[in-house]
Amino acid sequence: MGGTRPQRRIAADDRGIAEVVRQLKAGGIAAVPTETVYGLAADAANPAAVARVFRAKGRPAANPLIVHVANREMAARYAEIPPLADRLMARFWPGPLTLVLPRRADAPLTGAVTAGLPTVALRAPDHPVMQAVIRGLGRGVAAPSANVSGRLSPTRPEHVAELAVPLVLDAGPCRLGLESSVVKVEEDRLVLLRPGSLDSATLAEAAGVPVELAGAGAKEAPEAPGTAFRHYAPRLPLDLDVTEAAAGRFLLGFGPVPGDLNLSPAGDVAEAAANLFAALYRAETSGAERIGVAPIPAEGAGIAIRDRLQRAAAASRDRP
Ligand code: TXA
Ligand code: MG
Repeated sequence: MGGTRPQRRIAADDRGIAEVVRQLKAGGIAAVPTETVYGLAADAANPAAVARVFRAKGRPAANPLIVHVANREMAARYAEIPPLADRLMARFWPGPLTLVLPRRADAPLTGAVTAGLPTVALRAPDHPVMQAVIRGLGRGVAAPSANVSGRLSPTRPEHVAELAVPLVLDAGPCRLGLESSVVKVEEDRLVLLRPGSLDSATLAEAAGVPVELAGAGAKEAPEAPGTAFRHYAPRLPLDLDVTEAAAGRFLLGFGPVPGDLNLSPAGDVAEAAANLFAALYRAETSGAERIGVAPIPAEGAGIAIRDRLQRAAAASRDRP
């Protein structure tokens, strides 16, 4: 459980939001809800506050943070916005799309947020509470997922308990349950740095340009630094594409594979995405020795689910 200081969970009503805004203005940190996962928020212009975020997560300094903005207008303070990015903002913001854009030289950001890169990652979240926090602060909110670096992302306030943060703004479970898609915008193409809630087929269709996978193709592709680190590690070994029950293995089902807990009995990938991290937290504490996950189709949110599970399986294999 958390750090040495106790953690307080407060309701995300006007009073709770005002308290979090006061904390952020004073250089403090707080866990806040978004439509994807809970974030660990700090004033993106405050070096001490941003340092607290890196420390609380145990996050490598080379891994930059997403700056959360209210809208396009606020985004324009931080980045140059080419026409392609403009179109994506108009179509998908607020929502689970993070755009990596050229950072403005005069952007009011402390350097640690972007880990010294010439780019900045921006997202306008589609959650009324997070929107109220950003508007209350009046500027960009730096917020990585509110998990200890390398662990499962928190989609419920109780999962934030692992993190040493004094305040959690409780708005219940997150609607989407998977992190945003992170996309680097170049002049005439998009590079998907992290698959996420918004699937790349929808993105490509709206953008009218191809979406390339980072690392794919001959061109050297810029990766999201975060994807290089060990990630989404459950506390137990994890097996993919499991269809059979076995002693000592907690099975996360999908569709016709019932499992001990079914991510989506109807076989709906969006529902499975919303349940995924909470189900993994539950499997970890079930007393089982391993976790199995039923096959998830690689379509829509299923692509990002499979990405997270593959990383989780790899991370669980590396465990000492
Ligand atoms: O849904 C989300 O995106 C959640 C909620 C809280 O908004 N946030 C989140 O943040 O997932 P985090 O820090 O866990 O993941 C951000 C990812 C990392 O892989 C990081 O390396 C990448 O975005 N990133 C941030 N700034 C970048 C930049 N300038 N260039 C490339 N990648 C960047
Ligand atoms: Mg994260």
